[in-house]
Amino acid sequence: MTKVAIITGGAQGIGEAAARRLAKDGFKVAILDFNLDLAKEVADSIDGFAVKVDVSDRESFFQAVEKVVEKYGHLDVLINNAGVAPSGPLMAMRQNDLDKAYAVNAGGVLWGMQAAAEQFIKQGNGGKIINAASQAGVVGNIGIGLYGSTKFAVRGLTQTAARELAEHKITVNAYAPGSALTPMIKKSAEEISQQSGQTPDEVLDMFAKGVTLGRLAQPEDIANVISFLASEDANYITGQTIIVDGGTVFH
Ligand SMILES: NC(=O)c1ccc[n+]([C@@H]2O[C@H](COP(=O)([O-])OP(=O)(O)OC[C@H]3O[C@@H](n4cnc5c(N)ncnc54)[C@H](O)[C@@H]3O)[C@@H](O)[C@H]2O)c1
Repeated sequence: MTKVAIITGGAQGIGEAAARRLAKDGFKVAILDFNLDLAKEVADSIDGFAVKVDVSDRESFFQAVEKVVEKYGHLDVLINNAGVAPSGPLMAMRQNDLDKAYAVNAGGVLWGMQAAAEQFIKQGNGGKIINAASQAGVVGNIGIGLYGSTKFAVRGLTQTAARELAEHKITVNAYAPGSALTPMIKKSAEEISQQSGQTPDEVLDMFAKGVTLGRLAQPEDIANVISFLASEDANYITGQTIIVDGGTVFH
């Protein structure tokens, strides 16, 4: 039976690259995104399925998963990839920054895990959940502390869910990208450049300086690891966060 994967935030960036990679790997791919127009474009190009979702809204997430199961009949993999990246020093963060970052990055992962696990348990054959953490969720990074803290939360949710869902043959893992060249990182570079007086390209060069392999990630570098975690080769891995940062943090 053809395997079915859901990717949230698959309309662009890492999620888009993962959607294309999993389609190549033979999955039927459903793209769940806030941006339905872009999601449809990607979905059409890989014979996939696009559904509008706000991952921070539990009801919206459950309804979207239901639509995918209605269309494809079952579900094998959920990739909780959608995220937002507020930047700025901790002292500049305000209530709405906190609420949004946690609702999307941590809340979205929690609701997604619940919706997918409910379906996996109904099916009775287990399943795989893969969450987007970040290198900034492994060590604290200056200037993206609030964002990083939501990604520490993702690693915590991943570990506990791995333990709680193992009895249902569900594995739960995370990937922790360093800086990957996506619309998100370009937006962050622009925001930082406005404060620092550098050009956005200079900011990106600065990000690359701390990378052992000497370059920022392409979205495909991250999609390679997502593909592995979604494959049978990862069957004996659970509760882990795989760092994909070209050698930036060593843990
Ligand atoms: N790009 C990086 O350098 C980097 C580094 C570490 C971690 N990450 C993480 O990887 C993931 C993907 O990052 P990216 O750079 O591709 O991001 P991106 O901003 O380029 O794309 C994110 C996608 O998520 C969607 N989205 C945002 N909020 C949503 C919501 N509430 N409901 C549904 N969809 C929503 C957007 O519409 C967009 O299509 C994120 O979780 C991000 O935090 C990225």
